[in-house]
Amino acid sequence: MTPGRVVFVGCGPGAADLLTLRAARAIAAADIVIWGRSLLVREAVDAHASPGAEVIAWPPATMEDVLRAYDRARAEGLVVARLKSGDPGTFGLMDEELAAARERGLAIDIVPGVSALGAAAAALGTELTRGGPLELSRPDGGAVTFALFMPGRDPERELRARGLGGDTPCAILHRLSWPGELVVRCRLDALTEQLADLGLDGKTLIVAGAALEP
Ligand SMILES: C[S@@+](CC[C@H](N)C(=O)[O-])C[C@H]1O[C@@H](n2cnc3c(N)ncnc32)[C@H](O)[C@@H]1O
Repeated sequence: MTPGRVVFVGCGPGAADLLTLRAARAIAAADIVIWGRSLLVREAVDAHASPGAEVIAWPPATMEDVLRAYDRARAEGLVVARLKSGDPGTFGLMDEELAAARERGLAIDIVPGVSALGAAAAALGTELTRGGPLELSRPDGGAVTFALFMPGRDPERELRARGLGGDTPCAILHRLSWPGELVVRCRLDALTEQLADLGLDGKTLIVAGAALEP
């Protein structure tokens, strides 16, 4: 029996055609496909999963269900494709599952994907590292562009705490590459109000700083 394997597959920001060839092949080769309903478009799964594969959607699946699938992978020598939005290496929240796979002696592969960052740059028609570095979460100064993933309750405060002034250009990027993609530009001092007006769900990235300067 071949040893079990978990492949963490970066599936891009949502659009089925932003899946890489390697990702498509990894999904097609899997006995079990586990995908995150909130961040991935179902067609990406349907188009590539083998007809005989077991497809598990999270939610309603829980971490216990995922761990049960890993147990079966070990016991039966199965391949699990664990689909992640964007690139698994950028806020892929993989730690717990990587540890669980390693504890079970499963082989691990990671397939990189197109991050929401890349989709944001494309939607904005710019380079996010323009004029200086890109900071994903750490405080910094100078010509910096910040990208806030999973923005919390008060992104304006978070960005001001990193030294950005009220006139800093910002963009609210929602459902990048999905139908209904939304790009709203505003100054930092209008960010809270804009977000309240838009009332968006979780698929939102906020970019602020140098890359958005005219
Ligand atoms: C758990 S992180 C996953 C990031 C992912 N690994 C990546 O590389 O894009 C989820 C956050 O990514 C951002 N995100 C992912 N896909 C997005 C999309 N299509 N549009 C806007 N933001 C997205 C949002 O900030 C969301 O809260």
